[in-house]
Amino acid sequence: MKKCLGCILMAVLFFTMFFPSGMALADDEVSTKDQKQILNISHRGASGYAPENTMAAFEKAVDMKSEMFELDVQMSKDGELVVIHDTTVDRTTDGTGEVKDLTYDEIAELDAGSFFSEEFEGEKIPTLGEVLDQFKGRSGILIELKSHSKYPGIEQKVADELTSRNMDKPNNNKIIVQSFDHESMETFHSILPSVPVGVLLNYSPDGISEAELSDFAQYADYVNPNKDMIDADLLERIHDFEMETHPWTVRDQESADYLLNLGVDGIITDYPDYVDPHKQ
Ligand code: G3P
Ligand code: CA
Repeated sequence: MKKCLGCILMAVLFFTMFFPSGMALADDEVSTKDQKQILNISHRGASGYAPENTMAAFEKAVDMKSEMFELDVQMSKDGELVVIHDTTVDRTTDGTGEVKDLTYDEIAELDAGSFFSEEFEGEKIPTLGEVLDQFKGRSGILIELKSHSKYPGIEQKVADELTSRNMDKPNNNKIIVQSFDHESMETFHSILPSVPVGVLLNYSPDGISEAELSDFAQYADYVNPNKDMIDADLLERIHDFEMETHPWTVRDQESADYLLNLGVDGIITDYPDYVDPHKQ
């Protein structure tokens, strides 16, 4: 019996000495699949828990460990870049009117928190510059340019905000600029090629053609469709063009689990707690 135990110990010693990398590889194989980094991107900040596109929502996203948050940019009458989703202030503030018809001073007066809950009364519509200053080095930021046709020159203004803060270089905190207006993204790419751009796509039953993907790949790094368009085939085709994908907008656990299993590159969600690969 003692002789047998000795044999076993010798065998263990032999394997440990001569096959250490083989054993490590087995561990790596498990962890690579489990640990593919899928970016957790809070949509308009953690907008399931705080009023969208406010500092409160962006702080919540950071607290909830999102790697990035998304925001929407429009322009005031006097040319200030402001962070708000709709082209009017009606839905999310106590004011009325089109953003493009209000001066920055008028917009700064508005309460952008109470529509969500009394707890957030007094939250303001931030400027893009204020958000960049507050979150530089603390979070990645996915900047969506809205309504390009209403705001001529918005691409150059956003580029200036980034370069003046030295946020136009690849660094630890990702900056990506995206839009449904693909011409606007081509323009932005030509102004500031060091900042990656994404094309947003609404749901289409026709999917995305090879010709479209080939065209996007000329200037974009990301193809970000409605989440209902993404399947394994489309994911592979986007990757074949060396682009990545951040589908939107996840508002239920089932959709989050589906996209996590598929292995997309990032998930844009109102509820960052749904996007937890360790829950799988
Ligand atoms: O980031 C994608 C998503 O924000 C696009 O839709 O309408 O929420 O801006 P929307
Ligand atoms: Ca958006």
